[in-house]
Amino acid sequence: MQLTRIANDCGTAFQSDPLSFLQHAAAHSDVVAFDLHGVPHLFINDPELIHAVLVEHASKFQRTEYTRQSLSKFLGNSVLVVDGDSHRKQRQRLQPAFYHQQLARYAVQMVAHVQRAIANWQTDTPCDVHHAVLRLTLGIVTDVLFGTDAADILDDMEKLTQAISASQGREWLPSAERLAAEQADQALLERLNQRIARLIAERRAAESPRGDLLDLLVRATEDAMMTDQQARDEIITLFVAGHESTSMTLTWALLMTALHSDVQAKLRAEALRVFGERALQPEDYPQLRYTQMVLRETTRLYPTAWILFLRLLNEDLVLHGLPLRQGTTVIISPFVTQRDPRFYPQPERFDPERFAEGWEKVRPRFTYLAFGGGERVCIGQHFALQEATFTLASLVRHFNILPEPDYRIEPVPLTLLQPRHPVRLRFVPLS
Ligand code: HEM
Repeated sequence: MQLTRIANDCGTAFQSDPLSFLQHAAAHSDVVAFDLHGVPHLFINDPELIHAVLVEHASKFQRTEYTRQSLSKFLGNSVLVVDGDSHRKQRQRLQPAFYHQQLARYAVQMVAHVQRAIANWQTDTPCDVHHAVLRLTLGIVTDVLFGTDAADILDDMEKLTQAISASQGREWLPSAERLAAEQADQALLERLNQRIARLIAERRAAESPRGDLLDLLVRATEDAMMTDQQARDEIITLFVAGHESTSMTLTWALLMTALHSDVQAKLRAEALRVFGERALQPEDYPQLRYTQMVLRETTRLYPTAWILFLRLLNEDLVLHGLPLRQGTTVIISPFVTQRDPRFYPQPERFDPERFAEGWEKVRPRFTYLAFGGGERVCIGQHFALQEATFTLASLVRHFNILPEPDYRIEPVPLTLLQPRHPVRLRFVPLS
């Protein structure tokens, strides 16, 4: 394994244009070492090394102090924030809510939400797609995981997601502005905490269980496996993680569908074959194969997690012959690896066929990283794919989806990878 070292501190280059910086580094070598603000960093773009970090030696890596602090302010000590044994225990407790049988149950609610959204879809003027799907995915996660008609919580959850993004890099703001923003965050968090405490209390008082995630968490608090504070942290985390990435992925997928008429025609043909004139049913999910391929290809070209959470090495380690010092921060970028022509020829081309049946065997493991990998792989990936599949299939079945003229695609790596310009599409009802 050849290591390339970039001299000097690369903080400014990385911060001003991280995608170009990382793509440029990957063009030189699969392993690039550099310093960022004096801290040793290692960027890896080799599937075996990625596997070594995410799986073989996963226990030797942890969240960086900056990541932990900035997340825990909003998400407390949830599964997304903590490391080691605490992480394993918390993940095991949440996992049953994402088992296959549970997902099949959620499908019923997901389909109902999608059908309601389609009935009210904006067709008279171009639609701000992200706004439309954000409300849909937030409604689904709220109802499916927490079983509440939480119309009163939707606005605050949307604000919280914005506050988490806005808080990154706030240390550079003038202190008066920073203080005002922090006070606003605090007020928002207090409102949400009170609402979640009520949610937990109402569920405790309920006569019969619903069998959803909230039941699971409330039961864990009653069995003294978890405190109310811990349950609150997991609830808020799943609210946030459970809607924003999915809505952004759907935004990209709808943009790709609008820009590639051949793909749109195939999607529509599949929807007509699978459910045609009748209403979409939860059981249709496995038959919507091509729709799932389109979503995977979308997450390849536009992975909302363009970079995985930084991994901080907590002991010295020889990684496939490379000696690494404790304190090294490892960077893995799904955006860069998934655009590497060795694994995806003509990487810029949007081609859902790359994910045809058996795709996992066609290329090395850990070259598709849109949902991460190893013990911290996204807990909600099948949940997300299921709801996105129902949404995309229903939309192409009911509407011809057209782009605005001259739309230029420009991915911007903020907290999530998002389009620079709002995606506005026309949805023309099909007779
Ligand atoms: C298309 C939608 C989604 C994408 C692209 C996505 C992506 C990811 C990625 C890449 C990670 C791993 C990050 C890392 O290792 O650094 C992750 C973790 C996580 N995701 Fe997702 N996610 C999506 C939807 C969801 C949904 C729907 C939920 C919950 C309902 C969810 C909950 C979580 C949680 C709790 C973690 C942390 C897991 C852990 O650390 O053990 N995600 N997600």
